[in-house]
Parts: sequence; C-alpha cells; structure tokens
Amino acid sequence: MTDDSKRPPRRHRRPLSVAAAVLLAAGAAIAIPQLAEAATTLQSLAAAKGKTVGFALTSSYLSESAYKNIADTEFNLVVAENAMKWSSTEPSRNSFTYAAGDQVADYAASGGKQLYGHTLVWHQQYPSWVDGISSGTDLLAAMKNHVTNVAQHYAGKVTAWDVVNEAFEDNGSRRQSIFQTRIGNTYIEEAFKAARAADPAAKLCINDYSTDAVNAKSTAIYNLVQDFKARGIPIDCVGFQAHLILGQVPSDLQANLQRFANLGVDVRITELDVRMTTPSDASELATQKSDFQKVFTACANVTRCTGVTVWGLTDKYSWVPDVFSGYGAALIWDENYGKKPAYDGAAAGFGGTTTTPTPTTPGPTTPAPAGACAVSYAVNQWNTGFTATVTVRNTGSSAINGWTLTWSYTAGQTVTQAWSATVTQSGSAVTATNAAWNAALPAGGSTSFGFNGTHGGSNPAPAAYTLNGAACTVA
Ligand code: XIL
Repeated sequence: MTDDSKRPPRRHRRPLSVAAAVLLAAGAAIAIPQLAEAATTLQSLAAAKGKTVGFALTSSYLSESAYKNIADTEFNLVVAENAMKWSSTEPSRNSFTYAAGDQVADYAASGGKQLYGHTLVWHQQYPSWVDGISSGTDLLAAMKNHVTNVAQHYAGKVTAWDVVNEAFEDNGSRRQSIFQTRIGNTYIEEAFKAARAADPAAKLCINDYSTDAVNAKSTAIYNLVQDFKARGIPIDCVGFQAHLILGQVPSDLQANLQRFANLGVDVRITELDVRMTTPSDASELATQKSDFQKVFTACANVTRCTGVTVWGLTDKYSWVPDVFSGYGAALIWDENYGKKPAYDGAAAGFGGTTTTPTPTTPGPTTPAPAGACAVSYAVNQWNTGFTATVTVRNTGSSAINGWTLTWSYTAGQTVTQAWSATVTQSGSAVTATNAAWNAALPAGGSTSFGFNGTHGGSNPAPAAYTLNGAACTVA
C-alpha cells in the first residue's frame, strides 16, 4: 500500500511578470451591439445547466490569493484532495481526526459550495495499522467503523461520497487489495450499507480510473451497479476519474456515461486532468482545450451527469508530475495562475461560446469618457516565446456590452494562440474581441484573457490600448 499523502507540494518557477505604466487621454467610442447577457465563470455556466463544477482542494494553498480567488469564483463544488482519506481521518484505530477535513468542509460551507466526500475505502492512503489486521472479520469491523464514523461526522455537509475507490483492475477483475483479499467480494456492499446507515441523505458512489470508455473495467462496474440495484444494495452514483492523456479522450465517453445513467444512477467526472509531456507548447495546449471541451460536453449532454470536478486548479500544484514522470501541465490554470486554453474548452463544453459574436449593424458613435478603461498586462517569457495575460477593467460608470481591445506590438511579436478572447493581428496591430461569455463588463467590472506568442528577443509590453476606440489607462 502507499501512503503518499504527506508528499511535499511541487513548486515550479517561471520568469517574473512585466508590467508597463503609461497614462493616455480619451478618444471616441464606437458603440458595440448588445450581446445576450452571458455567464462569466465556470460555476455560472454549470449552474445554468443544473450541474456543478468542482475542484480538489488542498486548504493550505488558500493562503495564496490567486489560488483562493480562482477557487472562490470559478467553482461551486469542493472535494478534499487528501484531507478526508482514511490515513488523514483515522491515523490510529478508532481515533478520528477531522481537523484537515473540516477545513475543506468549512471552506465549502462559507462559499456556499457543495462538498463532495473522497474517499472512505481505498487501497491507497490508508493508515499502516490497517495492514496489521490479519483477520477478515476484524478488518470488516474496522472498515465499517471507519465508514460509519467518517460518514456520520460529515452527514448533512457532504452531498455525495466516493464510498469505494479503485476496486477493479483494468481487466475487470477485482483488485486484490487488502479489503478484497481479507474480507472477500462482499466488502464493497458492506461499505455501501454502512455509509447509507451513517448518512442516509448522501449519494453513494463508486469511483475509478480508466473507466471513461466502454471497456472491461467500466463494464465490471456497470455489472456491479446492476447487481446492487437488483439486490437492493444502496448505490446512487458512479465517478469517472478521467485522469487523461493529451488527445486521448475516449470517443465513447458520452455513450459510456449514458449507459450508466440508464441504469438509474448519477454519473460524474470526478478527477479530470489532461496531462502532456512538458514543457508544453501552443499546439499541445490547443489539443488540451479541445480535450477539456469534449469532456465537459459529454457531461453536458447526459442529464444524469451531475458535473465535472478537476483534480486541482493550477499546474503549480498537481499530483501529475510526481506520479507520471515527464508529464504535467494537466490543469486549467498554469503555474502562474494564468488561464490556459483549457479554460475556454471547459466553458464551451458547458455552453459558453468562444466563437466571435456575429456582427450586427453598429450603433451610433458616442463619445467615451476619459479613462473609462484600465488595462494591465502581465507576461511570462522565455527564449523566443511568451504567454501574456491581459486584464481589462471598465472604470466608467456604465456597463459595456461587447468589447474590442487594440494595441500595437513594436518589437515584431506575433500572437499565436489566444483564449477567452478572439485575437487577430495585422502587422503590428493587434485586435482582441470578447468571447460571448465575457462580453458584459459592468461598471467597475473586469475580465482577463490570454494568449501565447513569439518574440525575437525583445518583448516590450504594449504602451497603449484602446477599448471600443477609446484610450485606456495602462495599469
Ligand atoms: C492523489 C493526490 O492528488 C495526491 O496529493 C496524493 O499524494 C495521492 O493521491 N486517484 C484518486 C485521488 O482517487 O485520491 C488521487 O489523489 C489521485 C488518483
């Protein structure tokens, strides 16, 4: 067994951000046609579909404001990355410690987010005293005691539990875990029955990896659900971890989710990440965007799919590089908390659109007040490439609906790929137009978009911007 919950977090570094500060005066604005009010976060897109979008939380990272800000705004579900596992909650027999798990539960409650429980019985990250139990009867008693105590502690807080995690081998046979070998086939149903008794309101799920396609392993779980339903053993949901490799979203993912839904259980993507060889390049990030879109779309298209959970927020803190050597960059935000193209993919899969809005007849030209916008520009650069994040703030007193931001690149920089906006370039002139979901900028509101680009060694920040034709403050 493996207990690697105490593995230190990985930290990666990239060159520091650059910011420019120039103040410019007012111009004239072209009124942009009004677009339909659009959701601007992953959670608002999810909520509009009656679904949740979640992330695996490690509470200590909330001390970083960028991490907390994303967690606070983008998600309406939280799962503990490690804090509710057996090794965390019952380090010695019948002695329960909930401090770390409660931090996650408190964070969820304070932000009005759903709390998802992970996980009661798993062949990893259980305490070493469990290995010392040789009798099946005693291990069953210990397992039921664990399930009962933890599920009771979080009753009323957790909406669903991964009761049993990773119980099957890829060939569909039972994994020969300590629970399987000492208790036998019935350990799974015993865990589910104990969880139901301890928290009758929580949905009870079985969770696994490499089950995203129709294959021997997913079919084994399918058969288990059918069998439990037939025999009246409680089971409400199936989790599909979806730790995926770039470009390998199974084409039958949606069909697979649907066949489980047809059995009368909810389904969920529970631990999504899409790993690639590192360092990543623009083409890989574009494929990753498409992969995220496929997964979110599959869930959107299955009524009983409750939502998607990503296994972390930022590539700065991800289990992937620790476990899959040479791989990383698997999450939605990069190591500097910049949104990656994957964000737009996820948003698009949940109904946000990233296509250029259809132009309609322009409205009358109206003068724009001076300094009605402020733009900040942050860049991470290496030899000949860079990633930029641009934040546009409406500093005026009226809402902006639909925006076009322009600037000029003076050192031959070329934008190669953008997210959260459509970016075009003609010579040195660059034009960024809102995505449909971030078209609306209320007074005082802001939005960020990003892009990758190339440069020839010098990469100065733009000195000036216009928003809908009016000059902006450079923040
Ligand atoms: C991982 C965590 O992300 C790591 O921090 C920890 O060291 C090991 O476990 N499948 C699961 C998750 O169900 O609990 C695992 O989480 C990733 C694989």
